[in-house]
Amino acid sequence: MADPDLRKAASELLVRYGGDAFPTLFVSAKGATVKDDEGREILDFTSGQMCATIGHNHPAIVAAIKQSADTGVHMFSGMIPESVPRPPKKLPEWLPRPLKKSLFVNTGSESNEAALKMAKFATGGWEVLALGGSWHGVTGGAGSVSFASDRRGTGPKPAGVHVIPEPNAYRCPVDHCRDKCDMTCLRVGMRLFDMQSSGAPAAIIAEPVISAGGVLVPPEGYFNELRKACDARGMLLIFDEAQTAFGRLGVKFAADKLGVVPDIMSVSKTLGGGVPLAATITSDEIEEKAFKAGFSFYTSHVSDPLPAAVGLAVLETIEREHLLERAIEMGNYLRSQLEALQQRYEVIGDVRGDGLLLGVELVKDREKREPNHKLGAITTQRCYELGLSMNIRRRPERGSVWRIAPPLTVTKDELDRGVAILDQSLRDGLDQVARA
Ligand SMILES: Cc1ncc(COP(=O)(O)O)c(C=O)c1O
Repeated sequence: MADPDLRKAASELLVRYGGDAFPTLFVSAKGATVKDDEGREILDFTSGQMCATIGHNHPAIVAAIKQSADTGVHMFSGMIPESVPRPPKKLPEWLPRPLKKSLFVNTGSESNEAALKMAKFATGGWEVLALGGSWHGVTGGAGSVSFASDRRGTGPKPAGVHVIPEPNAYRCPVDHCRDKCDMTCLRVGMRLFDMQSSGAPAAIIAEPVISAGGVLVPPEGYFNELRKACDARGMLLIFDEAQTAFGRLGVKFAADKLGVVPDIMSVSKTLGGGVPLAATITSDEIEEKAFKAGFSFYTSHVSDPLPAAVGLAVLETIEREHLLERAIEMGNYLRSQLEALQQRYEVIGDVRGDGLLLGVELVKDREKREPNHKLGAITTQRCYELGLSMNIRRRPERGSVWRIAPPLTVTKDELDRGVAILDQSLRDGLDQVARA
């Protein structure tokens, strides 16, 4: 069934863009599974690239795409198609006040670029602070505030970019706490920022759950402190809710759960359900300030009709299918199954996360917590062979963490099958390590 010519073209004609590519090609995706060119059905516990929260090719998304194909997929950026104001008309039922106005772009990198630029225009400052382990994208500005991957080869960091240590209770970056973060990282980080600031602060950007950095859930009260730190310095708080908005944590936005309203919210992956759609959302007041200062963000696909139509379909589907509740129910179930695995495997040092965004950290032993990178690599590979795609976050200083985030529409049966594969991958992986 596999087409050898296409496989050859894939290996010879495509630029390698990072990460390990699977050895097969893929032909289709539906719900929580994808199919490869050998006809194998593989459970997708990464929801594509964390986007397909309502399941791959949901009929509502397919219908919105078909409708747009009839009425127009793209227009001049100065024309606002009718489908574009529809999601923001719905968003007030979703958004914490005073967030209200949206700019529709395509990727998370772009919505973060727009957020950073908006914060600079609205405040007149240009210093930006991010958290260690963060991932906000790959474009110039978004990449400059991303610290989950190494930055070798990218040249000097732009002036005005600062980083503070991330709150990681399991692996404290300042070697201070163990198991409970007391936010020393934040306090010391802000002190260091104050020492370095040239007096032009603009924003702090943060993910509510630091996902690529190892699925880190900051301690209770952390974002209140971050909000206070912003207010004290006249900085805007930007939440990057690329992964957490629209249901993955069982709430509309992580901001609801945290009880902290950012000044600017960046949403992306989960809004388009697999179609490139992202938005930068802010208040009337900040939009007005940025506009008056000359803010522009004029791209080829800003305000395109097709992705906006899909975004509306995603919001309606989440409501109609009660997917927030489902994320909690399935998230609790999955977590209990992962914790049951932890009881049986010494190498599972930590199970963490929120809703249906879960992390499992692999260690050599629970006391010393030395990262088990070898087992991480073997189990990810073995999962794929057994029919499960999941993600490993592997950084020398941050450990080896399975990141598990199936679509919110996942069934219990699919979760059981996935956990059985994880179980077997651990058994096989430990055997392989013992034999080596
Ligand atoms: C939290 C977060 N923000 C931003 C991005 C960048 O989004 P994109 O890849 O759509 O540019 C990602 C991508 O993984 C992300 O996880």
